[in-house]
Amino acid sequence: MQIKKIEEKCNSCGLCVKDCVAGVWRDTKGVAEVAAPQLCSFCGHCLAVCPKDAIVHEGLDLSQVRKVDKNRLDPAVFREVVLGRRSIRRYRQGAVPEDVIADILDLSAFSPTASNKQDVAYTVITDPGVLSAVSETVFGIGRKLYNLFTKWPGKWVYGALNFIAPGNDLARYMEPMPYYLRQVDQDGRDLILHNAPVLILAHAPKKGRFHCENCNIAAANIMNDAHVRGLGTCYIGFLVLALKFSPFLRKQVQVARHRRVYACLVMGYPAYGYGRIPPRRRRTISWI
Ligand SMILES: Cc1cc2nc3c(=O)[nH]c(=O)nc-3n(C[C@H](O)[C@H](O)[C@H](O)COP(=O)(O)O)c2cc1C
Repeated sequence: MQIKKIEEKCNSCGLCVKDCVAGVWRDTKGVAEVAAPQLCSFCGHCLAVCPKDAIVHEGLDLSQVRKVDKNRLDPAVFREVVLGRRSIRRYRQGAVPEDVIADILDLSAFSPTASNKQDVAYTVITDPGVLSAVSETVFGIGRKLYNLFTKWPGKWVYGALNFIAPGNDLARYMEPMPYYLRQVDQDGRDLILHNAPVLILAHAPKKGRFHCENCNIAAANIMNDAHVRGLGTCYIGFLVLALKFSPFLRKQVQVARHRRVYACLVMGYPAYGYGRIPPRRRRTISWI
């Protein structure tokens, strides 16, 4: 694989050397040179920073390189996007066009990944049968736990747990369970995937570092991108958790054995909008 400088175009600014954290580009007696192409992580920084388009990189699709439109960067708009996005738990009937989903996932490829690994991939599920089966499996886990904890000897274990750790996470979901069961069984409410028409699973290799971070940074971008397109999303932590423990569920979503799902989102057109921004606690920040 070749990385080259086009001598006629280069203005010797040295930005390629300054910016290359991998040490591919180095300063040799005042001249920028490709010293160690084998170290390249394909981050494309040299192409992005070169003001003269004086670099050719055979390992990258140069047709994607274009100038940044700085005039379109607006902090007020970004602020409104972040403030106005909500987790959507009621969806209108109707599919999300496949090309819209594909566009959103394409853009998410520009999210940072550790060492520029870019190994986040997606499974998009729109089959209503699979969606309801997944939902039933996850809710079924809650149902089983509830049945277990309301009968002896589970009842005793649950009581002991609440005594040792009052206000624990389990109690938060077990206490209102009779209400949840009525909503699901009588009203047909989907408390897991919220009857959304689309489920997106972000997955990456099982082994290695920073896969969870990579998937979740991408997920954050997906949620904001969907929001500006009038789509709603909701992060489904229950499904991330259940997928860790249930081989049956992993089979249902058909993610390859060597991959792990690190982030799950549902997506669809919201049944109604949120016209107000809700309050949030101020973040604690330590300045050092
Ligand atoms: C890691 C994570 C897990 C979440 N899991 C669920 C979930 O399983 N089901 C759900 O309805 N919402 C889930 N949410 C959404 C949060 O409840 C929601 O972000 C929070 O209440 C704030 O509301 P907002 O997103 O509208 O600002 C999750 C959010 C995150 C970040």
